[in-house]
Amino acid sequence: MKIFVDSANLVEIEEALRRGFPAGITTNPSLMSKEDRTDFKLHIKRIIKLCERYDRKIPLSVEVFTADPKAMVKQATEFVAEFGEYEGLNVKVPIGWDELAVIRELKTRGIRVNCTCCMSFNQAIMASAAGADFVSLFFGRIRDIGYDARAVVESVHRVFKERSVPSEIIVGSIRHICDINDAFMAGADIVTVPPQFFRQMVSHPKTDEAVNQFLNDFKKWSPPVRRAGAVTERFARAHVVRSVASSRALPTIFGNYSVRSGIFMFEADNGRKLWHYKSSQRTGGN
Ligand code: E4P
Repeated sequence: MKIFVDSANLVEIEEALRRGFPAGITTNPSLMSKEDRTDFKLHIKRIIKLCERYDRKIPLSVEVFTADPKAMVKQATEFVAEFGEYEGLNVKVPIGWDELAVIRELKTRGIRVNCTCCMSFNQAIMASAAGADFVSLFFGRIRDIGYDARAVVESVHRVFKERSVPSEIIVGSIRHICDINDAFMAGADIVTVPPQFFRQMVSHPKTDEAVNQFLNDFKKWSPPVRRAGAVTERFARAHVVRSVASSRALPTIFGNYSVRSGIFMFEADNGRKLWHYKSSQRTGGN
């Protein structure tokens, strides 16, 4: 069970890497096109730099952006020339009849392949039979046309496991947080998740409730914390008059105090705010 980041956005990718859970990253030409216009190779190199900075040499899927099989092989070779030092590089090739030959060719050249845009059981088994390291099933798009995406993942998972097929199943095209649960429950090895779902995945109202209750209970139970520079109320009352006289001593004695129109405001260690009118020498507190 692995979670990939389905994004080409550097900020989102770094946010996730900083938290240690990503086991891979998937990009595609549409995700790239959502980023500020820049040199494609430069952008991918920035993603690789981020992975290296967090010492996560995780699989990074970079998709060919041509429909011509010959050009796909050429692009894949260029990717290897540009990014090949990054051991996690995987070239994404969409499923198709001629694309199977591309997959075969890339595997022959020792290039790792993520066969993408698979919507059916048959596409998945053909992709893996051609040698794809990853087979990407598009959950949301399968559902778009009324097919039971979960059943597709289940059937591919069952056959891959029963026949010890080495290809790993990536489920992508996630549209709703429940798709992530359904995909894993159906047997996905990997779910590639758009970052907008990450916070939701770790949030639960009962978690907030429990944490708040624990902290409040502990705060009520534990003795009042003496703040640095804060003085006890008794000390404050005893010394307020004298220290006001020689205001030089105030900072050392009271740490945080303020003076507004002749009213000295002090904060004792129990959080009570004390005030003293210099003119009337009256002292009080809330
Ligand atoms: C992942 O590898 C896919 O490219 C991605 O999940 C596709 O998502 P979409 O169907 O929302 O475009």
